Amino acid sequence: MEKSYIERLLGVPNRSFFLFGSRGVGKSTWLEKKMPDALFFNLLDSSLYLELSHNPMSLEAMAGNLPDDSWIVIDEIQKIPPLLDEVHRLMEKKRWRFALCGSSARKLRRGGVNLLGGRALTRNLDAFSYAELGKNFDLDFSLQWGLLPWVQLEKENAADILDSYVNTYIKEEIKEEGIIRRVPPFLRFLKIAGQLNGQLINAQNISREAMTPRASVDVYFSILQDTLLGYFLPAYRPNIKVREQTHPKFYWFDPGVARSAAGWLFDPIDRTWKGTALETLIFHELRVYNHTRGRNRDIFFYRTANGAEIDFVIETQKKTPSSVSHIVCIEIKMAEKWNRSWESAMRALKSSDQIKVDRMIGVYTGQRAYHFSGLDVLPVEVFLEELYRGNIF
Ligand SMILES: Nc1ncnc2c1ncn2[C@@H]1O[C@H](COP(=O)(O)OP(=O)(O)O)[C@@H](O)[C@H]1O
Ligand SMILES: [Mg+2]
Repeated sequence: MEKSYIERLLGVPNRSFFLFGSRGVGKSTWLEKKMPDALFFNLLDSSLYLELSHNPMSLEAMAGNLPDDSWIVIDEIQKIPPLLDEVHRLMEKKRWRFALCGSSARKLRRGGVNLLGGRALTRNLDAFSYAELGKNFDLDFSLQWGLLPWVQLEKENAADILDSYVNTYIKEEIKEEGIIRRVPPFLRFLKIAGQLNGQLINAQNISREAMTPRASVDVYFSILQDTLLGYFLPAYRPNIKVREQTHPKFYWFDPGVARSAAGWLFDPIDRTWKGTALETLIFHELRVYNHTRGRNRDIFFYRTANGAEIDFVIETQKKTPSSVSHIVCIEIKMAEKWNRSWESAMRALKSSDQIKVDRMIGVYTGQRAYHFSGLDVLPVEVFLEELYRGNIF
């Protein structure tokens, strides 16, 4: 792929905002491209870092007499959490707008600052999406190596890039978090969490396998979530009555990073894993669509009493006193041919009077689209096309 700028779906808000996202998803590149007139402060610059960490108040003097409504970008803001108090003060005193960028809100919160008490919006940037890559989207490559810009732009070095992503960046990031005093248990956890991508998470079992206390496993998972490296997908429970507790699933943000964490980068890709990679990729696209179009719908998986599953359930309308909730069901299969037996969990849910199933969709890796009494079966790329046209939810 030529190394020109790839247009992102995320638009610039008209007022101050935080921009969060894992390392390497393209935050700094996006800021430079989208906010060419802003005054930039990058806290990776060591002399700037030293000056502002010793004296946050010098930010005002560095900004000089910018006119009202000017934009100020602070990249890697998590390096100096107290700087947020100064930003807060300047937002009140001057009419400047701030774009505050970092890999996680966690370090800011841990720095004891409030996140500007709601004075700034929050935006997330993800790895590249189908809609952004357009004709350069390569499904088979993306399932194996993922959608990080570095990987997509330098395909021949995908394995090495992903190896150092996990072994250098994630380790560094986690050490910086400070709460992790001992790295080896975290590394054991990381490998297990990689291998469990897309599966039900039982923290107790992971704790045993990683030889690490249960409380640490919970902290590790919360770090992965806060740094936007992974997401819990809760089980959907349409009726309020509390039934048996169902564990959530955990998905990494990217199939390539998951594979690297699992330690399987240099092994031939396993067929079951590829199915999980497809779910991971679709979940990523659902999130990107959800964020960038401001849809903000909750996403779940569903498990029937006899253990059949629906990969994704999107709640398109919440339950109200006078109506049941509405959902869209999506079942993903890594298969060239669609098997009608894969529809049964969706059809069972459809017949329930506790919820309204607006749409049932099967997504598979075959060539042709089908419609079977109320249920659409779509090839992956047709599904993604429909998603970004706003036809799925
Ligand atoms: N929209 C884009 N188009 C082309 N290349 C990009 C784009 N976004 C990121 N990249 C590439 O990916 C690399 C990592 O992006 P960067 O903006 O530094 O990520 P982050 O700030 O989120 O860590 C960049 O050096 C650039 O080469
Ligand atoms: Mg950056």
